[in-house]
Amino acid sequence: MIPGLWPGIFLTGSACHAAFLYLAAVMSKEIVVSGIRSTGYLHLGNYFGAMRNYVRMQDDFNCYFFVADYHALTTHPDPKLLRENVYRVVAENVACGLDPEKVALYAQSDIPEIPELYLMLNMLAYKGELEKVPTFKDKVRSQPDNVNAGLLTYPVLMTADILIHKGVKVPVGKDQEQHVEMARNFANRFNSRYGETFPEPYPFNYSDQLIKIPSLDGAGKMSKSENVNATIYLADDDDLIRKKVMKAKTDAGPTEHNSEMPDYIQNIFQLMNLVSSPETTETFKAAYNGCTIRYGDMKKQLAEDMVNFVRPIREKSMALQQNPSQIAKILKEGAEKARESSSKTIADARKKIGINYY
Ligand code: ADP
Ligand code: TRP
Repeated sequence: MIPGLWPGIFLTGSACHAAFLYLAAVMSKEIVVSGIRSTGYLHLGNYFGAMRNYVRMQDDFNCYFFVADYHALTTHPDPKLLRENVYRVVAENVACGLDPEKVALYAQSDIPEIPELYLMLNMLAYKGELEKVPTFKDKVRSQPDNVNAGLLTYPVLMTADILIHKGVKVPVGKDQEQHVEMARNFANRFNSRYGETFPEPYPFNYSDQLIKIPSLDGAGKMSKSENVNATIYLADDDDLIRKKVMKAKTDAGPTEHNSEMPDYIQNIFQLMNLVSSPETTETFKAAYNGCTIRYGDMKKQLAEDMVNFVRPIREKSMALQQNPSQIAKILKEGAEKARESSSKTIADARKKIGINYY
């Protein structure tokens, strides 16, 4: 074999072969992109819908994960709180197992190529289609005094986030499925107008379905800003977790063997499935089917398993938040990695559009 020059050293024989295999593996890794808004404390919905996948994906894919701080501006947060919120999202991601050495972990606002691509994509996005998006319609209903243009073009910014790295896999919860579908449409629209530039992105979850973590009161999903008393946050202390779980909605229990479960009981089983051992869940399922279940006992068990699940994440996150210079370093290094990829994409998009004057 001809000696190879990689990276800056001479390699011969099998070393050369191994190096090329490594390079080929890195280059062939699929690109993953996902973001979380810095709008509050992260919760089990964020964890099981998004972050658990991030952590598993970091070894197998080329990953870009970011704090969507521009997206958070739609609700005009207090400037004094922005940094604290961004830092906490970073700390909570790392506490959940994300390794900033393996992925690019950065703030959306550190990548100027994102708003540039957003502007280009806005010219291909139509008012009518944006007004029909259910999340936009929800916001129009819930905040009629603040229906700003950023809210309307929210899915376009999200598309720019993904396409700026030519991402193909987007780990998100069920609520984001339609936004990713729009990103796919915008990618295709750009390609058919200007020539093949972007791959089609798809939502991703390791199981075959996207996840929605329900709130403990049986109404809606766990969320950063709604259902706060029925949402378990990664920063909640042990007693607060116990209190919230014990208040979860139940009833007097089934009266017929193997009867169908009401939604709110299914929700409790779903949460148990995520944090308890399979044997524990099976025991309570058998008790449900045999009409001997005691929901008080089930919730006590779930509360303890939940406490044991959340505690190490909370402690690690709190320790990291005590060290803001480390978080700043993570963000800076993450932005450098992300800009390397985004500058290539934006140069390609400009050229395809014809912005190429000298
Ligand atoms: P939130 O909706 O809590 O404000 P974000 O909008 O920033 O959180 O969402 C970040 C990620 O967490 C997205 O991938 C979203 O789909 C996911 N997610 C949020 N809430 C849930 C939930 N209850 N169940 C599953 N995934 C969720
Ligand atoms: N819109 C997402 C949410 O509200 C957050 C987000 C912004 C995102 N940009 C993204 C998710 C790009 C995946 C990819 O949850």
